[in-house]
Parts: sequence; C-alpha cells; structure tokens
Amino acid sequence: MERRSFLRLSGMGTCAAATGMLSLAGCASIPHVLATAGEGGWRVRKDAFAIEGKDSFRRSIIVEVQGLEAPVIVYRNGDQDHIALLMRCTHKNAELNVSGDQLTCPAHGSAFSNSGAVLEGPASQPLKRFPVTYAGEDLVIATQ
Ligand code: FES
Repeated sequence: MERRSFLRLSGMGTCAAATGMLSLAGCASIPHVLATAGEGGWRVRKDAFAIEGKDSFRRSIIVEVQGLEAPVIVYRNGDQDHIALLMRCTHKNAELNVSGDQLTCPAHGSAFSNSGAVLEGPASQPLKRFPVTYAGEDLVIATQ
C-alpha cells in the first residue's frame, strides 16, 4: 500500500502529510467520512457534522468520494447551507491541507478560502466546487 493510501485510510492523510506531528491533534478532529453512491450524487448524512454530546456542529468534514482524485471538504454554514470543495490545488494539482477555515497548498504555498476563492497565489483559479442538495437527512454532493 502506498503511503498516501495508508494515510487516507487512517483518516489523517490530508493533514499529516505536510504538516507533521505538531498539528495532528487539530487535523484529526475533522472527521473523514466515506460517501455512498445514491440518486443525484454522493451521499453523506447531515449528522456527520454533529458533535457527540453537544448541540453544536463541526464546521467541516472531509468526504472521500470513490473515483475522485482528491477528497472533498464540506463546510457547514447552516442546516441547508453547505459548500463542497475538491481538495486539489488549481496551480499544479497538489492535494490541499486544512488550516482552520482555509485550505493551504504544501507544494508552493497557495491558499484558498472556505468558499474556494484564491487568497494567495501562485494559484489563480478558484477551487472546484460541487453542487450540494438535500434528501431527507442526507447531503447529496453532485460530482458529475
Ligand atoms: S500546486 Fe499548489 S501552489 Fe503549486
């Protein structure tokens, strides 16, 4: 198994690969969820954002979608307000790291906002954003 595959399966790949052990605790708190195929796209339960034992929600989760070249980060702005972004840098395709409400590129330093906008180059194009719809208690991420 390649190192990258192993890290992804262990649920910490996007954070650990470039940032080292110091930030592992913060990164590990972002749940990694495997999406399931369904009508209209890839499904994830809304309660994947729930924080056990609390009435509040996580700001983001990382979703693994079969067949995509990188994970998708989904930010929750409200119960019916989510943003799904491909964690692939638009400069030269490196996989991005999560740094709070920003996505940063370990290759050349680009940074993106939680809506996918470029905050810092050399990347000049926004991140790929997928439409999100809702079906009962599921989010439906349309990657086609
Ligand atoms: S690949 Fe991300 S800044 Fe170059």
